[in-house]
Amino acid sequence: MKIIDVLKKSVSEDGIPPIWLMRQAGRYLPEYRELRATAGDFLSLCYNPDWASEVTLQPIRRFDLDAAIIFSDILVIPHALGQHLEFVKGEGPKLGVLDLAKLKFDPNHLTPVYEALSKTRAALDPQKALIGFIGAPWTVACYMVEGQGSKTWDKVRLLAAQKPDYFQALIDTVTEASIDYLSNQIKAGANMVQIFDSWAGVLSEEAFEKWSIKPAQKIVSAIRQKHPETPIIAFPRGAGAKTAQYAKSVKPDGVSLDTSVPMDQAAELQKLCVVQGNLDPVSLLTGGDVLDREIDRRMENLSKGPYIFNLGHGVIKETPPEHVAQLVKRVRAYHG
Ligand code: CP3
Repeated sequence: MKIIDVLKKSVSEDGIPPIWLMRQAGRYLPEYRELRATAGDFLSLCYNPDWASEVTLQPIRRFDLDAAIIFSDILVIPHALGQHLEFVKGEGPKLGVLDLAKLKFDPNHLTPVYEALSKTRAALDPQKALIGFIGAPWTVACYMVEGQGSKTWDKVRLLAAQKPDYFQALIDTVTEASIDYLSNQIKAGANMVQIFDSWAGVLSEEAFEKWSIKPAQKIVSAIRQKHPETPIIAFPRGAGAKTAQYAKSVKPDGVSLDTSVPMDQAAELQKLCVVQGNLDPVSLLTGGDVLDREIDRRMENLSKGPYIFNLGHGVIKETPPEHVAQLVKRVRAYHG
């Protein structure tokens, strides 16, 4: 598996980076929208192994990407801890009021995800990797405390500052459940895993160390101990100037970069670990020459080092699928 080789040996034999995209399965694909309409709500799709596996494979069939990411969501962890969760159409996730004392991890809750992974691994081309994932404890705690999405996450940051011991207990609860969940995803067939810390960027220096770096270190060392062969990519979105410190402390096999990271800094980070990213999803939405230019810039600056082509964040739902085909074709033909 080429992507695993790049993550383990830090080289791509042919100089062409492996490619996959965050949110490569989803609403921009007509075949996803069709199945989603049959399933009804989003969570029913996630918890049905046949449907989840089918949706995971859809973008692989269409675009021949190098890796499939299991179709699920980071918020299945609060759900498995007993917090109410629903996805409201047009509004995103809504969680019940958080009661830390009542949280209790039910490992059976996640069995459908493991089944979906096993089914997908069995159906997937052996040359392609299957990716398992979790939300980082900070990002998951953001939703657990606020009960929904936010732009600034003031409420959770205030809680972390005012009641650090209480918040630490919440982070620890999420961390323990996440280690179990990630380990079981690997046992079920995931060949590599990604940790999504989507809201790492709202943390100040000290808070970042405490709530983003520390729990990620714990997860990476626990997973490495149990599954030394399984590469780990971490995505501290918005970490900016703190990204190198993050990579040095957490020591993931790869670091995923958001759209804001300049090419020279991304190339510098390649000295520490494999770099993944960071095409702007808006460039993918735009297509045409804009997309070509942005692809070439990444290939010029990053394809000499250990690199996995990806976006800086997820595919936007209005993206024409043909633009994804254009992207894959151009990356693979670049050196030719
Ligand atoms: O990348 C993939 O293709 C795998 C599947 C995946 C989903 N969510 C499916 C999904 C992954 C890896 C995630 C991670 C996730 N979920 C993150 C971290 C990455 C990021 O985007 O920053 C976060 C923060 C969430 C929480 C979440 N899930 C939100 C805020 C929303 C609503 C926003 C939206 O896009 O609708 C979701 C719903 C969700 N997760 C959808 C999908 C395909 C849309 C559901 C639908 O079909 O209506």
